[in-house]
Amino acid sequence: MTPTARILMCPPDHFGIHYEINPWMRRERPADAEAAAEQWSALCAALRAAGAELALLDPVPGLPDLVFTANAALVFRERAFVSRFRHAERRGEESVDAEWFASNGFEVERLPDTLFFEGAGDALFCGDTLYAGYRIRSDIQAHQWIARRIDRRVIPLELVDPYYYHLDTCFCPLTSSAALYFPPAFDAYARTALVEQIPTLIEVEPDEARRFACNAVVVGRTVVTNTGCPRLHARLRAEGFEAVETPLDEFVKSGGSAKCLTLRLDGEESTRT
Ligand code: ARG
Repeated sequence: MTPTARILMCPPDHFGIHYEINPWMRRERPADAEAAAEQWSALCAALRAAGAELALLDPVPGLPDLVFTANAALVFRERAFVSRFRHAERRGEESVDAEWFASNGFEVERLPDTLFFEGAGDALFCGDTLYAGYRIRSDIQAHQWIARRIDRRVIPLELVDPYYYHLDTCFCPLTSSAALYFPPAFDAYARTALVEQIPTLIEVEPDEARRFACNAVVVGRTVVTNTGCPRLHARLRAEGFEAVETPLDEFVKSGGSAKCLTLRLDGEESTRT
């Protein structure tokens, strides 16, 4: 149990496929509201069982992607670097997120308005290093700007596959020295950087990557993913983790899964040594 794990989530009351900003989203394939509510509640239960304490962001009509709290901000200690979304469809979330952080004891930091940045969806710590996905959603300069503000090294990783448009869809730090990744989502330079920097790098295969195997939530030694990732789960167990699956298909229709629906507020396990 990790009693200190604090995670921000947002109930899916207004979730839906109302626009198309990634290749998973198709308006003619709508989300089932009841199934989405059940799946979201089951994810909450799995995270609580792993020892997490959940904080909630109030859902807002007209903001169907607000459920994906990973994109609210990058949290570094008491500072929240709030997102500036590439797509106009999600920009209404920015003030809602900023207000939540301001009224919950965080110092809100805003990037220069020329830069796009989509929070923890594209920026993940492994040890002291910030790994940052760019090109499809976030700008490389945004990560460099943040790295200077927090005095951390940043390793930019170019994302090349539109299905893996956020870093957290193809990369997941497990500890300060281990991570999951789906190699074809990265350019050759990024793949080399990951192999050089991270001692234990677990490769996810294409069929399980499509089930969002890399979009995992780590709470202590528990790793929670969508269903349909049996080979990854076997590998995680062999590495001493407890692997938990919970169905998240309604959110996959929007291009998201377990990790996208969460934002760690107290620092990921992977930042601890
Ligand atoms: N429909 C959302 C979008 O395209 C899904 C966001 C998933 N979030 C994530 N952190 N990968 O922006």
